[in-house]
Amino acid sequence: MLLDIHSHILPAVDDGAKNLNEALKILKLMQKQGITDVIATPHFYPSLHSLEDFNLTVNQAYNHLSEASQKRNLPKIYKGCELLYYKDIGLSDELNTFCLNNSDYLLLELTDGFIKEPLFDDLLNIQTKANITPIIAHAERYFTAKKYRKFIKFLKLNNIPVQINADSVLNPLFNKPIKMLLKSELDIILASDSHSSDTRPPRLKEAYELIGIKYGEEIKIKLTEYSKKLHNEIIGGETLD
Ligand SMILES: [Fe+2]
Repeated sequence: MLLDIHSHILPAVDDGAKNLNEALKILKLMQKQGITDVIATPHFYPSLHSLEDFNLTVNQAYNHLSEASQKRNLPKIYKGCELLYYKDIGLSDELNTFCLNNSDYLLLELTDGFIKEPLFDDLLNIQTKANITPIIAHAERYFTAKKYRKFIKFLKLNNIPVQINADSVLNPLFNKPIKMLLKSELDIILASDSHSSDTRPPRLKEAYELIGIKYGEEIKIKLTEYSKKLHNEIIGGETLD
């Protein structure tokens, strides 16, 4: 059983799958990769979206896709969101709405520009005031930020997990940050962040394999174990292997 916690498969909701057909194509590719459970995480941009409109659109798209997926015995879909960080997010009382499958985990997107002091305080507030664990989406992407190393140390010190994209593992341009993250003591979850069946398909299987070859079986096993833990805590139930 394999979980993908980051995907843009809901049809016509964000910059991911354009329609139902494309969403089903991505789900078929996921199935070939061994993915059994996938969390749909459409982008939520606080300055652009209203929560009410977002929930309405997401619910409609989710129901539509989930039904079509079940009929075809494709991976099971759960609702989530990729929330873009904003200042004072840690003080919001609406954060539960954005969590992955109503769990205590929140997928949080950043930009290089956000990696400075206010973010650190907000992450602590998300943990302590809202009792939610933020997962930093595609943490390898921000490696050009000035305070990146300090940020990684902070995450480690405060047990904040990160997510890395399968595509980045397979892209030599990201060798440096991927190596740094994999060699750190951080909790890391690998996810597809897939947007389409052609240009940004799910490639979790290849990424896991490459991690084993390039960085060692021990690191690959550590990642697999953490994925199982999240599978259990976000989706529930025991994983079989
Ligand atoms: Fe994403």
